Amino acid sequence: METKIISVKEKSICGKAVEEAGRIIQAGGLVAFPTETVYGLGGDALNGESSGRIYRAKGRPSDNPLIVHICRMEDLFPIVAQVPDTARKLADAFWPGPLTMILPKSDMVPRETTGGLDTVAVRMPMHPVALALIDAAGGYVAAPSANRSGRPSPTLPKYVAEDLDGRIDMILDGGEIEIGLESTIVDLTEEVPMILRPGYITKEMLESVLGEVRVDRTVLDGNSGQPPKAPGMKYRHYAPKGELTIIDGRQEQVVEEINRRAREMQEKGERVGVIGTAETVGRYMADSVKSAGSRDDGKTVAKSLYRILREFDEEGMTVIYSENFGTAGEEGIGQAVRNRLLKAAGHHIDYL
Ligand code: TXA
Ligand code: MG
Repeated sequence: METKIISVKEKSICGKAVEEAGRIIQAGGLVAFPTETVYGLGGDALNGESSGRIYRAKGRPSDNPLIVHICRMEDLFPIVAQVPDTARKLADAFWPGPLTMILPKSDMVPRETTGGLDTVAVRMPMHPVALALIDAAGGYVAAPSANRSGRPSPTLPKYVAEDLDGRIDMILDGGEIEIGLESTIVDLTEEVPMILRPGYITKEMLESVLGEVRVDRTVLDGNSGQPPKAPGMKYRHYAPKGELTIIDGRQEQVVEEINRRAREMQEKGERVGVIGTAETVGRYMADSVKSAGSRDDGKTVAKSLYRILREFDEEGMTVIYSENFGTAGEEGIGQAVRNRLLKAAGHHIDYL
């Protein structure tokens, strides 16, 4: 299959490209498109065969459900069995935006899309191209992140092409993504709303609207022995090819320890990459040293993390050390960054 890549950065060509993409999805095909969080791989959410194609293109296990993307609030009602008050309040506050809600599904959503579950994940994204595409495609677009299963979610169109060229019909190139980490997922089918995946919309933001909100304990502790509630969170995600270890401790000690290990590994013939911050990056010695941004600004770190992991792959790094970002109880987007970094490292973290 030839994958057509069309830029949607200029208004003049964007409308036509989106219309063509919408027709492809309506006919059962697959189109990658920009959202504010990461690139998504879109198919018709109401067509079980399309969902099957999404799983195959990504190499994703079919028990890992997809998020249904909508572009109008009224389109929520037909696909869910009920809309609790909590969902209305969150939609008012955060839609369109990087928030996904888990709700009981209606019969309109095929089981292929929900990985066999009775619930459905729904999100109304904020990116104008995403909204226009969902409309052009008939209102319901199933879209996981547009990466091969196990790879970091793509924040640039070239990474979508790297993973999916030849496997999907079209890529809408909207340039670099704004946020860089996937949406926050909140489960509203429980008595107390529960965060299954942390993201840009933080626990504090949800609590300001709902009152009490819990966090699934597997989010920050991979060793709790319990299966995570979002099926996708159980898979080793976002894995770089090199062996990634997080080093946690006081800044001085961390820099020293990473430099010591990097030297040791280089002597063994490994190629070593280091993820530091603006504050420390000049002090590391390794084959490739990258700054994830400023320690005071979690948003810059969120935006650069997946790109850095992919760059280390391109550069052939076999061992990677990273400073830690955020602490276990941390507020704000630091929790999401920490969650993704831990997963990328397969929970390999050393405390000094
Ligand atoms: O920001 C995002 O959410 C991006 C963009 C493209 O919108 N999409 C995304 O989709 O990250 P994906 O498929 O890579 O991650 C969806 C996660 C998976 O961990 C999946 O298991 C979980 O959502 N999920 C989907 N439906 C669910 C359900 N009914 N119950 C629990 N978890 C669900
Ligand atoms: Mg994904």
